[in-house]
Amino acid sequence: MTQLVMGKSEVYQNALPELNPSYRLLLGPGPCNVDPRILRIASAPQLGHIDPEFFAIMEETAYLLRQVFQTKNEMTLCVSGSGFSGAEAVLSNLLEEGDTLIAGSLGFFSGQIVEISERAGAKVVNLATELGQPLAPETLAQAFKEHPEAKVFATAIAETSTGLWQPLEELERITHAHGALFVVDAVCGLGGVPMDVDAMKIDACYAGSQKSLGALPGLAPITLNDRAVKVIENRKKPVQTYYLNLHKLHRYWNGDHTYHHTACSNLVYTMREALRISLEEGLEARWKRHQLNGEALRAGVKALGLSILTQPGYELPVLTAITLPEGVDELAIRNGLLNEYQIEIGGGFGALKGRLIRIGLMGYNSCRKNVDTVLSALEHVLPRSGLQPAAGAALAAADAIYKAKT
Ligand SMILES: Cc1ncc(COP(=O)(O)O)c(C=O)c1O
Repeated sequence: MTQLVMGKSEVYQNALPELNPSYRLLLGPGPCNVDPRILRIASAPQLGHIDPEFFAIMEETAYLLRQVFQTKNEMTLCVSGSGFSGAEAVLSNLLEEGDTLIAGSLGFFSGQIVEISERAGAKVVNLATELGQPLAPETLAQAFKEHPEAKVFATAIAETSTGLWQPLEELERITHAHGALFVVDAVCGLGGVPMDVDAMKIDACYAGSQKSLGALPGLAPITLNDRAVKVIENRKKPVQTYYLNLHKLHRYWNGDHTYHHTACSNLVYTMREALRISLEEGLEARWKRHQLNGEALRAGVKALGLSILTQPGYELPVLTAITLPEGVDELAIRNGLLNEYQIEIGGGFGALKGRLIRIGLMGYNSCRKNVDTVLSALEHVLPRSGLQPAAGAALAAADAIYKAKT
């Protein structure tokens, strides 16, 4: 490569060719490949962030978002940032110095609720589960007994690091019985598993664009009900962050559109389109599609001779966490898929590093073609790591699910 010399424009201009990224089938924990409709709208003409035409698009996007969250919450908007910006916005606006938060840490991602809340000044009671296991309601009930002052309980519906689908009903009941706020991370779940914010009595919820919702990375949809909004309005001290100040963000999105920051119009178009696609398919149909393909993938994975990390009955349809036998090099498997098939899958995080592979079937990518493709590629790659899957067994097992369920 020609050496870049700053200040010598003729060298700089000729230094690099036009970018031509490889095509990847993104079957990791997100981002996922998006519907071509989303890529098309991404290249529509830009609008300024304070153009009245853009304000109308923001309002429409918030309107569609309420339908996908299934909420009437007025404070529903997209934070300009990835999923954790939504987490940080919700938690830092709700929490004040000295507040107590109980965290349902189900793995790496919901585990970050702890640090985010501590940075917002809260004392955190960390209820960390064994990896792949759900949080038991009794554990939460005990924590509230010991910390009746707790203001918030926060956890995830879909823990992407372990493929866990956390049941929320009992946790909600216990949280509200103690007068606390019920906060849910739906970064991976929204658009892929049943989410009905109002019926589930969720006070505040944050999500992500690039996973089951099937949009591009870079926006974090959030929604807060009146109870949560009142908590923010009654803060003793203004929230420390300017950028994630929900009062200002809400005014920009849903109020008189007073400037707060420079939102990217094209990214908002893609969110609007992803929401339209979800609603066109129908939320129920979309959840069923994810359920079916997740089930077929798990059947195929087991037929390959591998096992699922997650406790049976709690497996996410959108993300399958697969435990590898001792001594098997997960990086070799991932590299085999990437280099030979252009398929990206995920590895393990934290304590699970090197022990897991994770396959995501989210949004546009949740389809039979991708299930069969990744199972076939795995069957081809696994023998190099010393595993001997029976030829054709994985596809046959997936096929049996499709035959039985469609
Ligand atoms: C459950 C969950 N929460 C939070 C995040 C963080 O989202 P982001 O990487 O978009 O900031 C992720 C990302 O994988 C996630 O799966």
